[in-house]
Amino acid sequence: MSKALILDGVSKNFGGVVAAHEVRMQVPAGRVTGLIGPNGAGKTTLVNLITGMLPLTSGSIRFGEDEISQLSAHEISRAGFARTFQNIRLLKEATVLENLLIGFHQRESSSLLANLLGLPASRRETRRTTDAALALLERFGMRHFADFPAAALAYGHQRRVEMMRAIASEPALLMLDEPVAGMNDVEAGELGDIFKNLSQQQGMGILLIEHNIRFVTKMCEYIYVLDGGRIIAEGSPDQVVSNPAVIAAYLGS
Ligand SMILES: Nc1ncnc2c1ncn2[C@@H]1O[C@H](COP(=O)(O)OP(=O)(O)O)[C@@H](O)[C@H]1O
Ligand SMILES: [Mg+2]
Repeated sequence: MSKALILDGVSKNFGGVVAAHEVRMQVPAGRVTGLIGPNGAGKTTLVNLITGMLPLTSGSIRFGEDEISQLSAHEISRAGFARTFQNIRLLKEATVLENLLIGFHQRESSSLLANLLGLPASRRETRRTTDAALALLERFGMRHFADFPAAALAYGHQRRVEMMRAIASEPALLMLDEPVAGMNDVEAGELGDIFKNLSQQQGMGILLIEHNIRFVTKMCEYIYVLDGGRIIAEGSPDQVVSNPAVIAAYLGS
């Protein structure tokens, strides 16, 4: 579980728009690595490239020794990658618990068909995953919301459900696309503690994408700064926030 994600010379063009240019990054296991940059910098595009949702124009993406840039989104999820989306993507009519069970499905052995047929082995598995989903809800302080439709929850709680769904499959690498956007400092701090715990206790590699510099500098020992598809700075929080190119990029946006 201690493999690092490595981006090497990753480029992506959309027609004439250079969304990523020769990006080099490392996301090690057991740590929260930050990726910041103004709107339109190319942050979400990088996640779409890593997760196989978009093909690269050129470059290499490796997980440990393995080249993964040619894998499908499905294969990459099987390899232990999970993400959350900048815009919440829950099944609004389904309950909170049902939304989480979808996350668990990604690593379950029995097929969805076996589940529908109610085969005994899959019934046992459903029991197990339901218990695990309820434990996850407990840990996020949301056990009492299990049977609520997702749409009935407040925004901050919907974000938490999305987060839980992503970590239900116990990914080796988790990518969070602006997870605390729209949250106050207390809510952000609570989620931050959960991210730290996932990385430190479970060894998960986390790529934290944020527009909010204050939150990222609190969460990460190492931060990459993207602007116009290029890494313009990287290093410790102190190095990054005192870098004139970073200040210019943020003041300009
Ligand atoms: N699917 C796409 N097709 C065309 N252009 C895109 C697409 N996705 C992103 N872009 C462009 O790539 C640039 C980077 O966007 P994005 O990765 O969303 O930035 P960020 O997440 O940092 O705000 C922007 O100029 C955006 O308009
Ligand atoms: Mg984005």
